[in-house]
Amino acid sequence: MSIKNIITVPSEILKKISEPVEKIGSNEKKLINDLFETMYNSKGIGLAAVQVGILKRILVIDVSTKDEKKNPISFINPTIKKVSDETSIYEEGCLSIPETFIEIERPKICEVEYIDIDGKKRNLKCDGLLSTCIQHEINHLDGKLIIDHLSKLKKDMIIKKISKSKKNPDRILV
Ligand code: NI
Repeated sequence: MSIKNIITVPSEILKKISEPVEKIGSNEKKLINDLFETMYNSKGIGLAAVQVGILKRILVIDVSTKDEKKNPISFINPTIKKVSDETSIYEEGCLSIPETFIEIERPKICEVEYIDIDGKKRNLKCDGLLSTCIQHEINHLDGKLIIDHLSKLKKDMIIKKISKSKKNPDRILV
């Protein structure tokens, strides 16, 4: 396992659409382990493969709190099958957009179909934080970021601020 460099805005790769996974081999399993290690190291609750520069439809999530047992879930080729009319609002942050939090309204409940690490097709009904997190991460697989929910003006301001404060250029580890 290894901790990967997390890519931040304004890197173009974050806007790309990730490709479906056709076979789960040792590369995909290693990637999933690396994603978990990278996510836990950054104190995140979700991370998509594109955020470490790999355009595969793979993401990992663990929304357990500090006092709870860890609950890592990996999703391969996840798709949202159903959403509730009821919505919830969270102030969302993103490991690819440092120090930015944006209130986003999303469906409160969603049903996700995905393939697990053993290649089994699964369904998961997600509510609350898990629902928000999976929707945020699936957005990543489609090249969409939380700042895309804002006006262009606000979005440009945030990207400018982040670009200025950055000490190092983006590095992509593949
Ligand atoms: Ni994110």
